[in-house]
Amino acid sequence: MKCLSPSILSADFSKLGEQIRLLDEAGAQYVHIDVMDGSFVPSISFGMPVMKSIRGCTDRMFDVHLMIEEPIRYIEDFAEAGADIITVHAEACKHLDRTIQAIKERGLLAGVALNPSTPIEMIRHVLSQVDMVLIMTVNPGFGGQKLIPYTIDKVAELKRLLVKNGWKADIEVDGGVTTDNVNRLLDAGANIIVAGSAVFQGDIQENVHAFLDRMNQV
Ligand code: DX5
Ligand code: ZN
Repeated sequence: MKCLSPSILSADFSKLGEQIRLLDEAGAQYVHIDVMDGSFVPSISFGMPVMKSIRGCTDRMFDVHLMIEEPIRYIEDFAEAGADIITVHAEACKHLDRTIQAIKERGLLAGVALNPSTPIEMIRHVLSQVDMVLIMTVNPGFGGQKLIPYTIDKVAELKRLLVKNGWKADIEVDGGVTTDNVNRLLDAGANIIVAGSAVFQGDIQENVHAFLDRMNQV
């Protein structure tokens, strides 16, 4: 299934609840929640209290992208805050397998993310266990950056590997995605589309509809 996962990092935080309701009504299937610790990535964003306070605004899937060192320390907290999918960076885990098992033991969907320069080989042995692989299409840390073109080939490489082995993981792309480049990402094999600035700049509902229209063309 193809899903749009707007990143609330680009939302107006003074109207966060209201903007999440707009996303939901417009048909976005997921809500992408970027958690940053100021160590794995340069920025600090928000954490569990914000998530808890918006959990009541929608029943859509909370797609939580943890850009934090040793995320295993916080799996329980994010589960309690209302996460449906927890994605951890392979580069941030000393024990990636154990971290994935901790997410699954909590009954949540488990995702693993790779920075643009990290080879797919790094996660080959856990690909059969994860529900989603997040290919970063920018260097994580900020919204509003330009997509790095070679990451599209990486999506295609991952898709080939999954198909060849009969593994079912979703492929999510995150960073610099617009209505102009989304079809290339879908063609390469991505099916979960994160978009921050391209959704929140201008009319949110019009932007969601524009993405969903493009996505349904492929
Ligand atoms: C980047 C975050 C992204 C980001 C996407 O570190 O993981 O989710 O907010 O924003 P845009 O779509 O503006 O690049
Ligand atoms: Zn993200």
